[in-house]
Amino acid sequence: TTALRVALAGLGTVGGGVIRVLETNRELIARRAGRPIEIVAVSARDRTKDRGVDVSGYEWLDDTTALARCDADVVVELVGGADGPALALARATLGAGKGFVTANKAMLAHHGAELAEMAEAARVPLKFEAAVAGGIPVIKGLREGMAANAVSRVYGILNGTCNFILSKMESEGRDFGDVLAEAQALGFAESDPSFDIDGVDAAHKLSILSTIAFGTRPAFADVAIGGIRNVTAADVAEAEALGYRVRLVGMAQADASGVFQRVHAHLVPHAHPLAHVTGSTNAVVAEGNFVGRLLFQGAGAGDGPTASAVVADLIDIARGEAGPPYAMPVAALAEVAPAAAGAQ
Ligand code: HSE
Repeated sequence: TTALRVALAGLGTVGGGVIRVLETNRELIARRAGRPIEIVAVSARDRTKDRGVDVSGYEWLDDTTALARCDADVVVELVGGADGPALALARATLGAGKGFVTANKAMLAHHGAELAEMAEAARVPLKFEAAVAGGIPVIKGLREGMAANAVSRVYGILNGTCNFILSKMESEGRDFGDVLAEAQALGFAESDPSFDIDGVDAAHKLSILSTIAFGTRPAFADVAIGGIRNVTAADVAEAEALGYRVRLVGMAQADASGVFQRVHAHLVPHAHPLAHVTGSTNAVVAEGNFVGRLLFQGAGAGDGPTASAVVADLIDIARGEAGPPYAMPVAALAEVAPAAAGAQ
């Protein structure tokens, strides 16, 4: 059997994780995929950094776009950034008729429709399970598991950094600024941490979920966005006294007038499962007209969980099971006007 040949762009935390998953679970992955999955080329800024995995045996390419031209079936992009080298690599890869796997939520939020169109035109897979909620298979859950349902709402805790900060403020009575540095030390924060605390990262992820849940074109510009910068220890304590927890919740809701997407600090009642999601954990709730309410919960970031999602995408591709990126052709996605702000 022929191996699935993979080129890997970006050898940070997640890139190292991908190599570790493929090495540690090599046999079981090959059995499930029906063939081996092999890394044939890598690219990273720093060749000498210790990643805890041996990367000396791979072909190193300096220019990420060279990966698009190399002898691989699929390119995995773990570089990050909405534009720049990641986008150039995505366009070059799909343009060259190779599959593309990415964890890049910012790029998908801004350029997802274009990239999905390119993938469909070239009949190659574009997969991004790792872009939303790290290790939680929420793209699969919505796209495949809920494929038979009309989805009315999808919402959840989509940013681990904010959830870590809010839970610490809650359990230790500390103020926002006090806990921020600790959250950044976890290694989950975006390279620009304002993306985390101002709700932008959660909004990127929400716009991706919304496209899949509602079959509407990606509309990141329509997401109403707020963050947690102004939440104080006193707010958190007062909420607690009234029976609520403060959580940064991303919510997308469809009704006859359109799709409403927002990210804001919410007061979540103790009786709701999201009130009990603490630390850097993520959780997503989706409501379908036949399946009812589903709750997906787990690690939304980190090398092992995120790499687990990347490799699951590679296994789908090795099996020939990719299908259209958004569960239906981009041309079939509805152009839905954003619901009036303030709609509930
Ligand atoms: N900065 C993100 C978070 C990383 O804190 O959740 C995972 O996308």
